[in-house]
Amino acid sequence: MSQNNTKKIHFALTKIEEGSPVAIPTETVYGLAASISHPLAIRQIFAIKGRPNNHPLIIHVDDLSMAKRYAFFSPLAEKIASYFWPGPLALILPKKDVVPFEVTGGLNTVGLRCPDHPLSRAIIKKHGSPLAAPSANPFGRISPTTAQHVLDDYNGSVPVVDGGPCPVGLESTILDLSTELPSIRRLGAITKEDLAPFIPQFGQSSTKTSGTHKAHYAPSTALLLSNNLEAERRTWLEKGCTVAVLNIADSTEYAQQLYSELRRLDQLGVDILIAAKPKNDAMGEAILDRLTRASYGSTNLYTEN
Ligand code: TXA
Ligand code: MG
Repeated sequence: MSQNNTKKIHFALTKIEEGSPVAIPTETVYGLAASISHPLAIRQIFAIKGRPNNHPLIIHVDDLSMAKRYAFFSPLAEKIASYFWPGPLALILPKKDVVPFEVTGGLNTVGLRCPDHPLSRAIIKKHGSPLAAPSANPFGRISPTTAQHVLDDYNGSVPVVDGGPCPVGLESTILDLSTELPSIRRLGAITKEDLAPFIPQFGQSSTKTSGTHKAHYAPSTALLLSNNLEAERRTWLEKGCTVAVLNIADSTEYAQQLYSELRRLDQLGVDILIAAKPKNDAMGEAILDRLTRASYGSTNLYTEN
């Protein structure tokens, strides 16, 4: 660990131990973190984000053995966590009593994941117990994938540990193992195909989680999705609108850059953003899910393309 990283870890721990939320990097997006044993800090997370307090938070652990102190792991859950952690997969499991209901929004289940990021894992390990961390964006807005995004979102009022750009760029896949049949509640970089060898039969995905609201991850500018960018662009230019285009062919790169690009394009002050529909592969499906939600309020603008 470089001296620089040691300082960052120390900074985060100071904030966490004094009960102030601090934004930390993970491989997916930046999270707004607080210790699960600091009820006031947990309440502040909801206040800072403007998030309804019945929306459960994911808790972040350093490894499987820490996770098992906070949730009941079936043999299947243990197998899946051992295989995919650290990584962009959150598991919903029955919670143990030590997890406060403030964290789970009153639910008897808890979402857990072990992030694949050296800074966040070192912070959790040194703290010795889990950190609750939702994505650090204001509720309903685009998740942050750089430290600067967090500074921009809160005018510098939220402390941030800078771990560089998030390598995955989309929030984790959420797998619900608390119901009879496992179900995917949110798509992400761990795909259904990745999980299929462990799960012979999936149940219906539920849409109750906050990141699964129809309108989410929204830029302020109207956003359209298109398979035919050039035609769509021309249509709008001819109507006298100003237009900006988002077009990244490779799905991994598209995911990495999606939120940064949506934020950048949103600042341009154009009338319409047009995003290329992603490739029809597993990561493309997760990107399309986010783009569809981000464009939800703009769908009345659709043309033929
Ligand atoms: O990649 C990620 O998961 C990021 C990074 C920071 O780890 N975190 C994240 O947290 O995306 P958040 O709170 O923005 O999204 C977590 C989602 C929410 O939609 C929440 O409702 C759902 O997980 N969730 C958490 N605990 C749950 C539970 N017990 N049952 C059902 N859904 C749950
Ligand atoms: Mg979120």
